[in-house]
Amino acid sequence: MKPEKDKILFLENSTDLARAGAGIFVSTAKRSIEEKGYFAAAISGGSSPRRLHRLLVKEPYLSGIPWERTHIFWVDERCVPEDDPASNYGAAKGDFLDLAPIPPGHIHRMPGETPPEQGALNYQEELMDFFRLNKGELPVFDLILLGIGTDGHTASLFPGHGALQERERLVTAVRGGHPNVSRLTMTFPVINNAGKILFIVTGKGKSGIINKIFNKAHKSLPAQMIQPVKGELIWLMDREAASLLHGDIENGPSRR
Ligand code: 6PG
Repeated sequence: MKPEKDKILFLENSTDLARAGAGIFVSTAKRSIEEKGYFAAAISGGSSPRRLHRLLVKEPYLSGIPWERTHIFWVDERCVPEDDPASNYGAAKGDFLDLAPIPPGHIHRMPGETPPEQGALNYQEELMDFFRLNKGELPVFDLILLGIGTDGHTASLFPGHGALQERERLVTAVRGGHPNVSRLTMTFPVINNAGKILFIVTGKGKSGIINKIFNKAHKSLPAQMIQPVKGELIWLMDREAASLLHGDIENGPSRR
């Protein structure tokens, strides 16, 4: 089932998908900066968003983004050193942050090297400071990029984990995923408070979970708990990821 305000964009392949995602990143950045003077985006790890990330420091995207007004946060992070191959920050640093003219203070890294519980508290403090929040208030990210696991997880919100029920904390510490390590993750209240949420789903390996989400009665998967309160949810998927959906890709899946 797809709530009406969700949008699904079907792209032929992962390259076209990355271009579409980078275009949305640029347009959202420009609009956010026009409206309030800054752009706050939160990115996820994993392999799906990396092609998009790399495009952000290539033309026409590089000069299209007002980097001096852009702030990059993380949706989740593995609790490993920055130079560990599993580090989401480490991947993003190499893919685009080292090449973008973004002020260093605008890169808001999750402290993966800090003991997880403390790291979660520290990052929550950083969000509260940046967004000038009082206790109980939620940040409003202009754009959040998400991937999806074959088990239906997103961020580091894994099926059956207690973090799925977290409604107070902005950031929490969990353990799980591949690699099965301690992680910091934003919680659903934060993610669902974003202005725009973009799921990036590519490849045949994701066709099963996409089918489960869009064609079956599943309601409880973490990715299905991404329901923006006021914002927009856009699914970007390529032909392979959408290959088990009914109907042809041009017209989108038949939705029940
Ligand atoms: C993480 C990610 C995670 C990822 C999915 C999909 O830090 O592991 O945030 O939620 O988006 O596991 O990963 P792939 O894009 O590599 O398939």
